[in-house]
Amino acid sequence: MFETLTKAPGDKILALMGEYAADPRSTKIDLGVGVYKDEKGVTPVMSAVRKAEQRILENEKTKTYLGIAGNKGFGAAVLDLALADSVDRSRVRIAQAPGGTGSLWVLMQLINRAKPGATVWVSDPTWPNHNPIAENSGLKVEKYPYFDTETRGVKFPQMLAALDKLGKDDVVLLHGCCHNPTGANLTNEQWDQVAASLARTGALPFIDLAYLGFGDGLLEDAYGTRKVIASVPEALIAFSGSKNFGLYRERIGAAILIARDADQADVTNSQLLNIIRGAYSQPPDHGAEIIRTILEDKDLRAEWEAELNQMRGRMITLREKLAEAIRQRSNSKDFDFIAAHRGMFSLLGLPNDVVEHLKAANGVYMIGDSRINVAGIPEDRVGDLAEAMLSASK
Ligand code: LMR
Repeated sequence: MFETLTKAPGDKILALMGEYAADPRSTKIDLGVGVYKDEKGVTPVMSAVRKAEQRILENEKTKTYLGIAGNKGFGAAVLDLALADSVDRSRVRIAQAPGGTGSLWVLMQLINRAKPGATVWVSDPTWPNHNPIAENSGLKVEKYPYFDTETRGVKFPQMLAALDKLGKDDVVLLHGCCHNPTGANLTNEQWDQVAASLARTGALPFIDLAYLGFGDGLLEDAYGTRKVIASVPEALIAFSGSKNFGLYRERIGAAILIARDADQADVTNSQLLNIIRGAYSQPPDHGAEIIRTILEDKDLRAEWEAELNQMRGRMITLREKLAEAIRQRSNSKDFDFIAAHRGMFSLLGLPNDVVEHLKAANGVYMIGDSRINVAGIPEDRVGDLAEAMLSASK
């Protein structure tokens, strides 16, 4: 049977992880996959996570099933964290899912049940895995203008004009904060306009909220999501705990749906739960129980927030240091946008041959579209990196 298959394309982000691991050079620099690293280059287990895991180990009495929607305490805590009181909870349902990707997957399946073959509009560019998740769910993908390759900011008038043309059968995938791959984000005023556009056209907002707390703060980063859902009758959100809780391999996320009213929410949720049951039956619990334990406990939550703030501060400092190092060496402000971007990534706008040269000659690994993960910059190598980038771009 398998002779009918041809080789599937690899994922460029995960393929680069493998290439980096295989490179024997001790001077190599990993700016590839979106994983936070501390000053020692290590992706740490956060201290609040470790403490929560100890408590779970001591107190867990059973490993029996939790049900299709997963850990209820986790669901309630995530809604408080992400949505607060921006929407009447009787219209909201949440199902724990395996990672942000699993959440995107079950929600895309839900869209296809509601409107088979509907079009999902994604930002140009977007996280490369958005397209396959949508297409494998039976949906079509189109792009709306987003990144301005001249200013390295958002092409907002063009984006808004494109959104204004959509209708109620369209889905608009938005990055709630910390845009991946560009690092260029909407201002609060621009979010207000996006929310007003969606309310006007009736297009369905679908928010990918994978980096809450990695941009300007937990509250600041939730502004766009809360504004949009407060403005429209229906919305979807894919939440991830991979980055902000450092729980990457635990695969913890949540699929959130907001419907017109409680009855519609129940019906829509029954379809979501039916999709989950027919896919993986129920989600794994460990990551959810860690997040529930942290968010429900005052001290652990404070410890988690402090560490998250410190991680965010470190990424902002690295942005400033790299922009400054390039400015000093080139006498130009061409790379100042790195300091203005937020989140884990910046899209540098370098051609692919420059990216390849940096990898081959300097051992600097970034995604082929020139996306860098700023958390991967070793603090004592900022100067080397600035020099390599400038000499490769000449
Ligand atoms: C990334 O964009 O690097 C991360 O979200 C990891 C992934 O799964 O692609």
